[in-house]
Amino acid sequence: MLHLLGLCLLLVPAYVSAQAVPQIIQLQSRIAPVPSTLRRRALDPTTVPLADFFLGTDLQWFGNITVGTPPQVISVVFDTGSSTLEFASTLCGAACSNQVQFDSTKSSTFVDGGETSSITFATGVGVDPVVGSNYKLTLRSGTDTVRVGNLTAPDTSLFLITNQTPKFDIDPFSGIQGMSARAEGFFASAVAQGLPSLFSLFLTPLAVGNAELTVGGIDTTKFTGNLTFASLPAGSSSTWSLNSPQLSVNGRTTSVLKAERNIIFDSGTSNVLFPTATANAIYALISPDIVPHTAEPGTYGIACDLIPTLSAVIDIQFTAQNGSPFNLTIPSSELSVGPFADNSTICQTLINAFDGLSLVGGSLLKHYYSVWDVADQRMGFAAI
Ligand SMILES: *[C@@H]1O[C@H](CO)[C@@H](O)[C@H](O)[C@H]1NC(C)=O
Ligand SMILES: *[C@@H]1O[C@H](CO)[C@@H](O)[C@H](O)[C@H]1NC(C)=O
Ligand SMILES: *[C@@H]1O[C@H](CO)[C@@H](O)[C@H](O)[C@H]1NC(C)=O
Ligand SMILES: *[C@@H]1O[C@H](CO)[C@@H](O)[C@H](O)[C@H]1NC(C)=O
Ligand SMILES: *[C@@H]1O[C@H](CO)[C@@H](O)[C@H](O)[C@H]1NC(C)=O
Repeated sequence: MLHLLGLCLLLVPAYVSAQAVPQIIQLQSRIAPVPSTLRRRALDPTTVPLADFFLGTDLQWFGNITVGTPPQVISVVFDTGSSTLEFASTLCGAACSNQVQFDSTKSSTFVDGGETSSITFATGVGVDPVVGSNYKLTLRSGTDTVRVGNLTAPDTSLFLITNQTPKFDIDPFSGIQGMSARAEGFFASAVAQGLPSLFSLFLTPLAVGNAELTVGGIDTTKFTGNLTFASLPAGSSSTWSLNSPQLSVNGRTTSVLKAERNIIFDSGTSNVLFPTATANAIYALISPDIVPHTAEPGTYGIACDLIPTLSAVIDIQFTAQNGSPFNLTIPSSELSVGPFADNSTICQTLINAFDGLSLVGGSLLKHYYSVWDVADQRMGFAAI
């Protein structure tokens, strides 16, 4: 979910299948000691197991935090595309009846901030397209104790959801924990207490399970080989993004794909967004049969029975801190997002046209172990 200039993008595929039960696996993992340069004083990393929100394809990964005294368990998407914490509350009543609701009257440490606001989420284009106020949250500000794993952050700024539109009903989680490239909220508090200012994500396909977030460390049991680090562009704000000099599809590139672009990494999103010209150039190298699906502006599709015949390996090139190029690769298996709701013989394809930004999410991230290093303003990736 990208919170950009007040516009949040909630991106899920148009394909919505019958209810699938998220697979929840508790795990025990060894946490690597953090590099000494990151160590300030003792506060150990903590690992939160994540469940996969799966509807025909992997959409989002969510895990538990607790809020309040005594603690109430709230499940949230750990979202690198936004920066605040918001979750369903009892003030939301029937509108949030499918979600676990936080009851602030039962928390002795809750302080009402009294400010109300609203966020309208939009896909902008495509995938389950939303215009106007279809995805709208009404919020009330407050502070309370927030715990993530065994990190405790008192007096943490948060927002209670006091109303929401019905589009949120299918979410198997109650809220969103923003994890921007600035330490904010519970993370800022833990860093102030001595936690290294980085976190790591192991987002896996449903069949693999064991997904996890490690806050303040790197879980070396989850990948092989070395991490490759790339620096965030100088002066980048709270957005996780890297500059890319080139995209390639099935080993080929074009002048359009060779342009320098800034690519946002959003763990709260499953899809890929590129400007229209870039999306068209990518699809031209995959199949002429992939065409815009006019019923859902910004999306593309192809007859589902053609999908297995297509090769669609997308290499996104970046530059490592040591100057060497490296690719992050989206394999062909990600091409189909699933059948369109309005025509189940046509399958939606992964990349949506969105003029103005480039963005990748879970469909890329689940093929790597990723390290989100706030202190050193860089991202690291390792093969899994
Ligand atoms: C919680 O902290 C303790 C040390 O304070 C650490 O040994 C343990 O691994 C942590 N637990 C989790 C779940 O990360
Ligand atoms: C979150 O906590 C609930 C119990 O409150 C538990 O049933 C569920 O498995 C937990 N989810 C994850 C992803 O750990
Ligand atoms: C990882 O880095 C070490 C030290 O730089 C190097 O010796 C080793 O060959 C690297 N391993 C891989 C798999 O690239
Ligand atoms: C990145 O992918 C492109 C296209 O497949 C390839 O030509 C290039 O050699 C790759 N770069 C690296 C460093 O692997
Ligand atoms: C689905 O799309 C195919 C190909 O464009 C078309 O032949 C068919 O009539 C469509 N079906 C429906 C139900 O719209």
